[in-house]
Parts: sequence; C-alpha cells; structure tokens
Amino acid sequence: MTRAVCPGSFDPVTNGHLDIIRRAAAIFDELVVATGTNPSKSRLFDPEERLDMLRALCADLPNVTVMGFTGLIVDFCREIDAQAIVKGLRGGNDYEYELPMAQMNSHLTGVETVFVPTNASLGYVSSSLVKEVASLGGDVSGLVPPLVHAHLQERLARS
Ligand code: PNS
Repeated sequence: MTRAVCPGSFDPVTNGHLDIIRRAAAIFDELVVATGTNPSKSRLFDPEERLDMLRALCADLPNVTVMGFTGLIVDFCREIDAQAIVKGLRGGNDYEYELPMAQMNSHLTGVETVFVPTNASLGYVSSSLVKEVASLGGDVSGLVPPLVHAHLQERLARS
C-alpha cells in the first residue's frame, strides 16, 4: 500500500489544489492532505477553518484524509508512514522553489516527492492571488469552490 502526503498552507484551498488532490488520490492508495503554516506568508484563515473547508471538500474522496501538521514535513511523513510527498507544479517558478525542498527531504529521510503538473487552465491560480483579488473586490468565484467563496466573502466583510 502506498500512502502519500499532499502538504500546503491551503489558505484558502483553490480549484487548483483540488485538481491536484483528486488526481493524486487516483494514483496512490491513500492520500493525506496535510495543512501546515508557512511563516513567510500572511495568513487569512486559522488552521481549524482551513481544515474544516478541506474536510468538507474532500468528503467524496474515500481514500483521502485531512490532517494538520507542525514541524518538518519529513517527520510528519515518518509519523504516519507515508512514502511520498505530492506537490503540484504550475510552472518554472514552482519548480525552482520546490526542487531544493524535494532534494532536502529526500536527503533527510529518503521520502520522495512526486510532482503533478497543474491543469493548464488553472496555472495562474494561487491562494495569494485569490486573497489579493478578493480583498480588492474582484470576482474569484470561478477559482475557488462555492464553500470557500462564501468563507472568503464572510471573512472580508468582517475586516
Ligand atoms: O507551499 P506552501 O503552501 O507555502 O507550503 C506550506 C508548508 C507548511 C506545507 C511548507 O512550508 C512546509 O512543508 N513546511 C514544513 C517545514 C519543513 O519541512 N521545512 C523544510 C522543507 S525542505
């Protein structure tokens, strides 16, 4: 049985993330979507809200579970006995950013990273851009699921 981890901030989860999660779930026996916090990025949703949204959106995928993690991703992989990390690649910038992390993670514990190319129609979608556009009144309804769109509207109305 092969268990893989798909880590990310998911702040918030986008249609691009969900495309990668669904396609990775079709490759591996089990997929654990793992939410962490990247200290270099500004956060909109707290960890519990990100987990709740992901759990609702992955509920129809029987081999997918959603968990939070702190610390090194390789330690989390070891704790849950996962053999691989899955990352979506939108283009060259993602590759430049992800390659040294994949190499470091392989060096640390031998866990391998599998890169899945983003669907071409979603290559420009990122959580950061979604938050920026939404906060300035732009329409992001086609870029995130309706559940996330509702959370975004509610959160931005409060700020
Ligand atoms: O791509 P993202 O959304 O910024 O990823 C966030 C997260 C939390 C998944 C990423 O920052 C991460 O994996 N953090 C764990 C810390 C770690 O293992 N660092 C060493 C990487 S080689």
